[in-house]
Amino acid sequence: MQDLAMYILEILMNSIHANSKLIKLLISFITKDDEVKIIIEDNGKGMDEERLKTVVSPFSTSRTTRKIGLGVAFLKSLCESCEGDLVIESRVGVGTKTVATYRLSNIDTPPLGDIGEMMMFAIQANEAIDYEFDFIKDNYHFSFNTKEIREQLGGINLDNPDILLWIKDYINQEIRREDL
Ligand SMILES: Nc1ncnc2c1ncn2[C@@H]1O[C@H](COP(=O)(O)OP(=O)(O)O)[C@@H](O)[C@H]1O
Ligand SMILES: [Mg+2]
Repeated sequence: MQDLAMYILEILMNSIHANSKLIKLLISFITKDDEVKIIIEDNGKGMDEERLKTVVSPFSTSRTTRKIGLGVAFLKSLCESCEGDLVIESRVGVGTKTVATYRLSNIDTPPLGDIGEMMMFAIQANEAIDYEFDFIKDNYHFSFNTKEIREQLGGINLDNPDILLWIKDYINQEIRREDL
């Protein structure tokens, strides 16, 4: 995988497939701590201890269509190759929290990629799910909350093509600002 957006989309898709209603995403770059931190928290079906133990291994999956599961394992190997760590907490019926950290200055850190497009794909996969997305880069903080957007849209679905494109462009405009 080439960029961070693709790694995160894999984790978001797991949360989507776990029947989450709300997914919280934090992406943070803190220069003074030399740290990238990504937190994905869902309120989906969760995992039992046995699955949780094996979920970071590339052969762990509950899928029947594809024999291997890779999403979590990929992100873990990214973290480990960039002097970081991946920790997952999960409870059946409550949800799953994935915390990935790694060193910002590591030579192997991937580019950010297209975060706007990533959110567009996630929303498109299941319009009913809400997102609370926070992006932090040192002193800059951008928040994107689908509940607020739904209120402003007054009944138009988020998977309307014009809305999806607007969401993609809006997010990218805010997180690719030149002053960051
Ligand atoms: N957020 C989550 N909530 C519930 N189960 C999850 C979650 N993330 C991963 N899993 C479980 O772990 C398995 C492995 O995930 P992953 O490595 O992404 O592989 P895949 O999605 O291809 O199965 C999934 O099949 C699913 O059973
Ligand atoms: Mg997956």
